[in-house]
Amino acid sequence: MDQSIVALIAAIVGEDGYSTSKARTYTYGFDASIYRGQPDIVVQPRTTEQVSELMKVANENLIPVVPRGGGTGLCGSAVPIKGGMVLDMSRMDGVERISVADLLCVVQPGVVYDDLNKALAPYGFFFPPTPGSGEACQIGGMVALNASGMRAIKYGATRDYVLGMTFVKANGEIVQAGTGTLKDSSGYQLARLMVASEGTLGVITEVILKISPKPKSSAMALAAFPGPEQAGEFVAALIAEPLIPSSLELMDSVSINAVNQALGGPLPDCQALCMVEVDGDPMIVDKELAVVKEVAERQGATTVETTHDKVQMAAWSKSRQAVMTSLSSLRPGHSSVSLADDMVLPVSRIPEAVKAYQAIAERNGVTVATYGHAADGNLHTKMLIDPRSEEQWLAAEKAVREIFQATIELGGSVSGEHGVGMSKAPDFILERRSALSTMVEIKKALDPNNILNPGKLHQWEEDGLLGPLRYPCDPKSVE
Ligand code: LAC
Ligand code: ZN
Repeated sequence: MDQSIVALIAAIVGEDGYSTSKARTYTYGFDASIYRGQPDIVVQPRTTEQVSELMKVANENLIPVVPRGGGTGLCGSAVPIKGGMVLDMSRMDGVERISVADLLCVVQPGVVYDDLNKALAPYGFFFPPTPGSGEACQIGGMVALNASGMRAIKYGATRDYVLGMTFVKANGEIVQAGTGTLKDSSGYQLARLMVASEGTLGVITEVILKISPKPKSSAMALAAFPGPEQAGEFVAALIAEPLIPSSLELMDSVSINAVNQALGGPLPDCQALCMVEVDGDPMIVDKELAVVKEVAERQGATTVETTHDKVQMAAWSKSRQAVMTSLSSLRPGHSSVSLADDMVLPVSRIPEAVKAYQAIAERNGVTVATYGHAADGNLHTKMLIDPRSEEQWLAAEKAVREIFQATIELGGSVSGEHGVGMSKAPDFILERRSALSTMVEIKKALDPNNILNPGKLHQWEEDGLLGPLRYPCDPKSVE
């Protein structure tokens, strides 16, 4: 990067607010996805005004800018594939205001999800989306991806909590979008437009989030099924009962085996299971738990365990959260890679989807673990491959494209909670064909020089989804 530009940046954030060292910038070339890039400079702003000044420099000098939260994203949204500037927002980590009477809090984007909930806990409130990466992911990233997780079925995703925000446009203009009120019918919902925009429309520097009272009690059930299709049928039957659980996680046998091997066998040895949580007033919890058990048995569950014990519930939840990391130790030399990993379907189509995914895996000779937040239709299909083998990458890519195709044919969509980034981009472009030109017009209006996170979403240029892989089997990633 030109030294005169580095000097301009240094004047904005100070000497300890940026780095151009090769080692430091290298570490900002990754998120938790399969991709890598290499920024020219990493900048750690402390204020909205600094972000605004930085954007003016970037816009005048046509420098790509990629805002970054905790770097836990799984589809490459924070990977700087065009070089330029990574804006690490982690120094803007203040919980600025909690107002329980107004049901909201005001936070900076670098606040870690779990830290926000620790700050809300003494008031008896919480911010519910519960992403799997809650220990590390940051609120700005959650908003930029519309992240969620286990509790979205009852409590919604991040978008349902964004009341307002401050963001900085590509030209440095500071925009206050939305309000600090629970309702707002005043014109275009710009704060909502920023949700899931993945850093392509502006840099989020403050967020006003709605908060929820914490439920008084909870209980869980663990139901084993003869196969994932029966588990899927149970999910659809429970919702139709009607019963909206606070979470309902489905796991297939690959996921169950991986967790049992890694953690020493806490889950029943079965072909598929559903882990259900109900919460609320203790009397309602007891009633709902009984309904969950009854519906599971009616739908062919081979065993149903229930518990109110907090230690047991924490152990079950931990085993579910461990799926992603456990998969990589299931088979020596193989890793779980995030490709088609968070499609979302109408809940009634889940039994057909899990059947179709299994058939696709078998046909392409790859191992797929299917698990996820089945009650809101959001499934994860992790591929287990040897990441050094180009052949396996190609087989996985083919299977992934078929999985997305099947998902779209069943009325689903390519991403429920992780975003599009790069790994969903080719199929996002197919799925959202009729909306693409409108998205391009919005992008051009807000970022005419195309400096904000270029190359992602509708701008994906690669043929297929493998692109700039972080793994050494790809000649492009070996220097
Ligand atoms: C999970 C992450 C992958 O649910 O979203 O485990
Ligand atoms: Zn998930």
